[in-house]
Amino acid sequence: MPTSLDDKPLHRGIERVLISEQALAQRVEELGAEIAGHYYGREPLMIGVLTGAFVFMSDLIRAMAIPVRVEFIAVSSYGLATETSGVVRILKDLSRPIEGEHVLLVEDIIDSGLTLRYLLDVLHRRNPASLSLAALLHKEKARAAEIVPDWVGFTIPDEFVVGYGLDVAERYRNLPFVGVYRPDEKPVYSS
Ligand code: IMP
Ligand code: MG
Repeated sequence: MPTSLDDKPLHRGIERVLISEQALAQRVEELGAEIAGHYYGREPLMIGVLTGAFVFMSDLIRAMAIPVRVEFIAVSSYGLATETSGVVRILKDLSRPIEGEHVLLVEDIIDSGLTLRYLLDVLHRRNPASLSLAALLHKEKARAAEIVPDWVGFTIPDEFVVGYGLDVAERYRNLPFVGVYRPDEKPVYSS
């Protein structure tokens, strides 16, 4: 693994590198080429799910040699009580209708899949011409919502990961690799 962990403040709390910067770059290039091939002759509307997908999105669109448009949507779960029903709240909606558009939803990670189940239902009801899903990471454990993405970067074990957009309490999003988080570690900036 070319990326090494040292005693940088940013690396505290990271147990190990799961997907190196180089592996991410290579896979995102492949995905970009595949997705661009799929949409060739059309101009997809790419919708990133904030906040986690913003790093993946920014690399993915630059790996696609076709015209695309970009939007973001932000959602929040209501909390544990309603999480099982998959009810989420839209914190920031799209700026215009998507009727007749070829929509590609871009997400950082699929865990239970409940957030995406809800989002896909909401977007589907707005009558896009097509609706597809690209997820950078897909946890391999059994999932309640049975989401099957059209494109997946990596299937990963059921561990909590951070970096490349993914966070713990808004931290670690700027790690250039995906790492396994070690929860018993002291806070990043404790004295
Ligand atoms: P789901 O509804 O259970 O699929 O939750 C998906 C969301 O939970 C993702 O968009 C992430 O924001 C967050 N999430 C799930 N697993 C992880 C993880 O391992 N690291 C960081 N965030 C995660
Ligand atoms: Mg997310």
